[in-house]
Amino acid sequence: MSGLQRWESEFYQRDTGFVADYGADVLSWLEPVAGERILDLGCGDGVLTQKIVAAGADVVGADSSPSFVQTARASGLDARVLDAQNLPFDREFDAVFSNAALHWMIQADDVISSVKRALKPNGRFVGEFGGFGNVAAIITAMRAVGEELGGDPDRIGPWFFPTVDHYSALLEQQGFKVDNIVTFYRQTPLPTGMRAWLKVMSGPFFDQFGDGSEAALDKVEAVLKDSLCDHNGKWFADYVRLRFLARVDD
Ligand code: BEZ
Repeated sequence: MSGLQRWESEFYQRDTGFVADYGADVLSWLEPVAGERILDLGCGDGVLTQKIVAAGADVVGADSSPSFVQTARASGLDARVLDAQNLPFDREFDAVFSNAALHWMIQADDVISSVKRALKPNGRFVGEFGGFGNVAAIITAMRAVGEELGGDPDRIGPWFFPTVDHYSALLEQQGFKVDNIVTFYRQTPLPTGMRAWLKVMSGPFFDQFGDGSEAALDKVEAVLKDSLCDHNGKWFADYVRLRFLARVDD
């Protein structure tokens, strides 16, 4: 698995459990209705998926990580290991929902067309993920430290953080009508600190330094301290979100 992002449910829940808390907000754009069939794309450990189930919808969770899917299933969800670019569904869902996952899916065109295939006529695609400029300070610090230590910058991400114009165009090209799309800055508290976030979200970048990975983490933290750590020692991530609601337009 070296070089690939690894998802381990236990660390994800401990260090980035806030992701689902913030995701509750975008659910107000989904407005799930009892009886609707909804696909939660990139469902992770299923914490947010449970909220859609609680609204009375018939929900399928999809994730590429077997560890996440196992955790989601253990909580009673219908969760499946699936490739977002090749979803095995044809006009089955009233809505596809996605929180904090689409930025990991860099073949955005393929994902959007796969989502469109999965939706019924007039079905909606609702999501939130990293927008243009997301974690810019964190990326810049990792690049600087990577360069200093002779690392490979391509092990950052890869992530997809589009502008509103770019993502709207991709949705429209694939046959969606965009009802609403916004971007906003959300400085996000990291309850277990920057180091834990870096390890969970960008493990492969630090793994490349072997025994020097802790030293690389020290350096990245030192670069970021002035901008993302407050006077009480509380860390934040410089998140930019892109939120959208689009409908199948044919
Ligand atoms: C995000 O949620 O914005 C994010 C998560 C992991 C890596 C980069 C960004």
